[in-house]
Formats: sequence, C-alpha cells, structure tokens
Amino acid sequence: DWTMAEFRATKIAEIREQVGDQRVLCGLSGGVDSAVAAVLIHEAIGEQLTCVFVDHGLLRMNEREQVERLFRDHYNIPLVVVDAEERFMSGLAGVTDPEAKRKFIGGEFINVFEEEAKKIGGADFLAQGTLYPDVIESVSFTGGPSVTIKSHHNVGGLPERMNLKLVEPLRELFKDEVRLLGKELGLPDIFVGRHPFPGPGLAIRIPGEVTKERCDILRKADAVYLEEIRNAGLYDAIWQAFAVLLPVRTVGVMGDYRTYDSVCALRAVTSTDGMTADIYPFDASFLSRCATRIINEVEGINRVVYDYTSKPPGTIEWE
Ligand code: XMP
Repeated sequence: DWTMAEFRATKIAEIREQVGDQRVLCGLSGGVDSAVAAVLIHEAIGEQLTCVFVDHGLLRMNEREQVERLFRDHYNIPLVVVDAEERFMSGLAGVTDPEAKRKFIGGEFINVFEEEAKKIGGADFLAQGTLYPDVIESVSFTGGPSVTIKSHHNVGGLPERMNLKLVEPLRELFKDEVRLLGKELGLPDIFVGRHPFPGPGLAIRIPGEVTKERCDILRKADAVYLEEIRNAGLYDAIWQAFAVLLPVRTVGVMGDYRTYDSVCALRAVTSTDGMTADIYPFDASFLSRCATRIINEVEGINRVVYDYTSKPPGTIEWE
C-alpha cells in the first residue's frame, strides 16, 4: 500500500529524531494497536526498545503464547513477559462492581509495569498504541461530555509517575489504517485482523466475582465459539465476537442426570469504530451448533443464549 509505505517511512524518521539514543518501553496488550506500534518503533530504533507484556490471567486462550511467538521468534524484539495472574486474581477476589474491577485492574497493571521497568533499568520514553478515536474518546466517551459510561483501561498516569515522555506513532490513525500499516510491516494476517480486546480482559466478560476457575471456563467457551466463527468464514465480517460467563446457574439435563451449571451468553457485533454497533445476524443453525458444542465440551456450562442488543442502548462489553 503506497500511502502506508510513505507513512511508515515518515514515522520511522520522526521516531528516530524524537528518541535519539534514549530508551523506550512499550506495553503490549496482545492487541493489534500496541503490536503495530512496537514493530514500527523497533524498526526505527532497534534494541533501544523493550516490550513488556503483563499476563494478568484475564487473557484469551493461547494469547500469551501467540504474543511471545510473534515478538521473540518472528521479530526478535526484546520482550519481558510478567506472570501476574495470582496478583490479579487475589486483588479481584470479592470485587463485583464493574467500575471497581476496572479501577483495580488499571491500577495494578500500572504497578506491575512500573516494577518491571525498574528491574530493567528504566527508560526515557513510553510507547503507546493510542489511535485517533482514543484521543477523541478520552474527551467524550459514548455518553457525552459529562457522563463516564466506563473508565477505559490504559496506562494513563504512568508517564507522569515514572517521568516518561510519550511516543505515540499511531495517534492520527483509525483502526482500519492501523491494520493496513500492520500488513505493511509484515505482521501476519491472523494477528492484524484480530478482533479488539479490552484492557481489563475477561474480567468485564464475567459479571460478578472473577476467579481463575471462571476465567478458565470462559476461555474454553470463547475458544469454541471463535473456532466455529472462523470455520464458518465469518471472522472478518464481524467487528468483535466473544463469550460472556453469567453469574447465574440454571437447571438442565445431560443423559440421565440433572445439571445445575452456569449460563454462557454469546455476543457478536458489526461496527466501524466501536462507538455504535449492530448485532451480527447468525443463522439459527450456526448458533445451535455453537450452543451444542459449548455445552458438550465445556464443563460448568449447561445453557447458552445469544445477546440481541445493539449499541446503543447496550454497550459492546457487558461491563
Ligand atoms: P463498549 O463496551 O464501551 O466498548 O461498547 C467499545 C469498544 O471498546 C472496547 N473496550 C475497551 N478497550 N480498554 C480498551 O482498550 C477498555 O477498558 C475497554 N473497554 C471496552 C470494547 O472491547 C469495544 O471494542
């Protein structure tokens, strides 16, 4: 792509100019934006960049391994992976309020990131995959200027605390442009085309208390659902699809036995920027195939429902 080739060259020159011979830290989320930012910056300044990936235990199936493979093996980019699952799970114990979950996860993420940064001798810059819509949304998110619908998880506050300057090479781009740039930089299609994933991860897809056990159940259901979506060739037609694990148990029957297990909700939406969204109109046969597989393959779930709510009035995530 001609435009992105030019953008790439311009940004590389700008990053070199801005950073000089100083050091840059980049927090990877597993998502497209931070990955594209990291690869671009690595191309500009090489080993002056260190990436940090915090595994908070709220990631999707195999997500951490995918990031490790891409960065260490494919790009040879220095990567620190922090195993912080226990810390996050113990902090989330007993927390059920959606905003309290978000606040804890955002704050703890910053704590872990700061500790790791100290261990590797600090840095001068913090790289972020901030996009143009993020710049707008932080001013007015969903509900207009005076209403905070959800406090977005990012590393806000960290730059001041650690006295870091910011490198944000994607600030002028929209999501579709970031994907083009990712392709231009040679990121695998499967990574570039990934659905967005929120910073607080699976925690906001588990209404009520988050536990490791519930995360494990949700990860399995989500993986089955996404596998079916990919097999049906629908992945790229959908903005975001995921499973939600409800804090409700219902009665069912499996063979000769009564079951009393959790309900799983499936969500899939189309959107261009996440600000508004429509539900994806799956065939009934597709949905019943997903329901059957999830109930058969995932212990702890005995009922599956489909979320028919557009945004507005719903939000895409459940919390
Ligand atoms: P909602 O649920 O508000 O989400 O309709 C809109 C889009 O934003 C994502 N989302 C987040 N992304 N940090 C993020 O980086 C967050 O805290 C966060 N909360 C929601 C959501 O997945 C959807 O794509």
